[in-house]
Amino acid sequence: MPIFYGKATLKVYLESLKTDNYKIGFVPTMGALHQGHLSLMQRSMAENESTVVSIFVNPTQFNNPEDLAKYPRTLEDDNTKIRELNSEIIIYAPKAEDIYDGIPVSQFFDFDGLENQMEGKYRPGHFNGVGTIVKRLFEIVEPTNAYFGEKDFQQLQIIRKMVSKNNLKTNVIGCPVYRETNYLAMSSRNALLSEDEKREASVIYKTLMEAKAKFETNSAVETQKWVEESFEKNTTFKLEYFQIADEETLLPCIIKNKNEKYRAFIAVFVNNIRLIDTISFN
Ligand code: PAJ
Repeated sequence: MPIFYGKATLKVYLESLKTDNYKIGFVPTMGALHQGHLSLMQRSMAENESTVVSIFVNPTQFNNPEDLAKYPRTLEDDNTKIRELNSEIIIYAPKAEDIYDGIPVSQFFDFDGLENQMEGKYRPGHFNGVGTIVKRLFEIVEPTNAYFGEKDFQQLQIIRKMVSKNNLKTNVIGCPVYRETNYLAMSSRNALLSEDEKREASVIYKTLMEAKAKFETNSAVETQKWVEESFEKNTTFKLEYFQIADEETLLPCIIKNKNEKYRAFIAVFVNNIRLIDTISFN
């Protein structure tokens, strides 16, 4: 299967596949693929007749130009990894011109406030960029099912909101966080860490698990304070935020309500590299 670089040829090919009940699975990515991405592809292959994987480092979702410039671009390696998994997977690797007319700009979205929490606070405009590219990609691929990782849980909820507000037909499926052996959530950014930093980064998941235990007998505020204090002692990792939030609204937990599902969200910096993680608190 060749790589598709243009939407026109991709669309023609996908049209030729479609018969009644033909399911197309879709895994949007920015490349620099790792086992976390591949786990989404495996799930898609098990549940659909064909799987499309897009590889596109979307400029409009980067609020920091340095982060965009640093983002690893490894199309050849990505192609090999996908081919090793399954030679039938359809790869779409567009250039910006194939997605955006002229200078890449975001559309504005109202995600009912989901966009104002956590990542939205620290990465202004990020979710407008994500909404813009995912909507565009959905229009091109017209997938039956689209797979997103819970690692970016806020993104997953925002895509669900975008789909429901625009009455899109795609089912959005959330997939569990895939982790390294030391429980560091797999991320394309991990490639930018030194071996020591990668090893020490196990502190992120360890802190989340300890916070989960604390939250059983302490309030959200007390748990948050404990996390903040424990990172103050850490010289390698700088905490950007830790928040316990409702899974649906993403609003911070003020008073615990046993009918609500909570999740902890964390962002830390190591040497200007930003890592995020999340676990369920239920
Ligand atoms: P990217 O960071 O490449 O991630 C692509 C998909 O892989 C996302 O759904 C992400 O949540 C999932 N993923 C990443 N690491 C994972 C892990 N350790 N375990 C499970 N899933 C993981 O997210 C994006 O790209 C972009 O914002 C995108 C949706 C492609 C829009 O540009």
